[in-house]
Amino acid sequence: MDCIELNDGRICDIVPWHTKQKHVFIEKYFEIWENNVGRTGKFKPFLSIFDLYSSNGWCYCDDTDKYGDSEKIWQGSALLSAECLEKYEHSKKLFLNTYHENPEKRSQQKKSLNQALQRFPKIFNDTIIRDLPISESIDEAIKYLDPNWPSIWILDPCAASHLPWEIVEKIANQQAIIPNFGIRKPEMIINLMTSGLQRNVDRSEKMVKTALGFNKDEWEEKFDQKLDVGLNYREAIIDIYGEKLKTLYDRPPIITEVYDTTQKAIVYCLFLCTDSKAGHYMFKVNKLQEFKNWVMYEWGNTADMIAKRKSLGLGQKTLF
Ligand SMILES: C[S@@+](CC[C@H](N)C(=O)[O-])C[C@H]1O[C@@H](n2cnc3c(N)ncnc32)[C@H](O)[C@@H]1O
Repeated sequence: MDCIELNDGRICDIVPWHTKQKHVFIEKYFEIWENNVGRTGKFKPFLSIFDLYSSNGWCYCDDTDKYGDSEKIWQGSALLSAECLEKYEHSKKLFLNTYHENPEKRSQQKKSLNQALQRFPKIFNDTIIRDLPISESIDEAIKYLDPNWPSIWILDPCAASHLPWEIVEKIANQQAIIPNFGIRKPEMIINLMTSGLQRNVDRSEKMVKTALGFNKDEWEEKFDQKLDVGLNYREAIIDIYGEKLKTLYDRPPIITEVYDTTQKAIVYCLFLCTDSKAGHYMFKVNKLQEFKNWVMYEWGNTADMIAKRKSLGLGQKTLF
């Protein structure tokens, strides 16, 4: 990912404008914690956030004007996580992992993140920053997790193969049995890069195995079934991934797709996994509506597409 240094010293990832959709989705879910659980909830549990693909912290897009948007610089997932925990009364830990295969860029990312976090003094003292590949950062992150309390995990890789299915499964399995509550599981927001998968899923056995966690035979059978009932490649991938996530949680994930107006295509899909009734209900009933309206305002096509999803029928209806 390319970056730019601003006059004030901030380093930002250079991102396409559609990235804002992802950040608004994350922000809206955090708002439930900040405003509902944190302020009006009778019981305010401790909350930790784990962002395993943090990058530099800030995002920059030069051509926002083209979309009637004057905001060129905004907070990426790491800073949104920090802001949420800064506002949330009972915040516990913020774990950020920022990795780049180039050691120079990796150390720059870590430095930039550290710098950007200075604006959140409350959570800064409870923040852990690491710069490990995902295969190592997962075990490091788990050391800081207390499964007795809620946690939100942000999994936002650049490519589907950078997030192996076993990582998702490992996080979901960090459960605790809470008296008078039941089983508590970590919550997750996953970005599945469907555009890359669409291009390679019927060619790369390795990708299917890594990102989706299926052996070739099992995958082919499921995939063909989906295509047979009329789903396209993208819908079939989302359906199968969503079903798989549903087996890890009591509830199906909340799904939304991110549309790129320049490419005129859906680039990735966001899955929110929570087995908390309140979180699930609040997001579906309130925030998703709010998100749709915002998308309607800024991203006309996407909003129509999301709205239509409810009447799509087939598998995805049950996942919504
Ligand atoms: C899409 S960006 C994350 C953007 C960030 N979540 C945000 O909202 O600002 C993906 C990040 O994952 C990093 N990355 C690439 N390969 C990785 C790996 N194997 N393990 C962990 N991170 C990796 C990339 O360098 C990049 O910083």
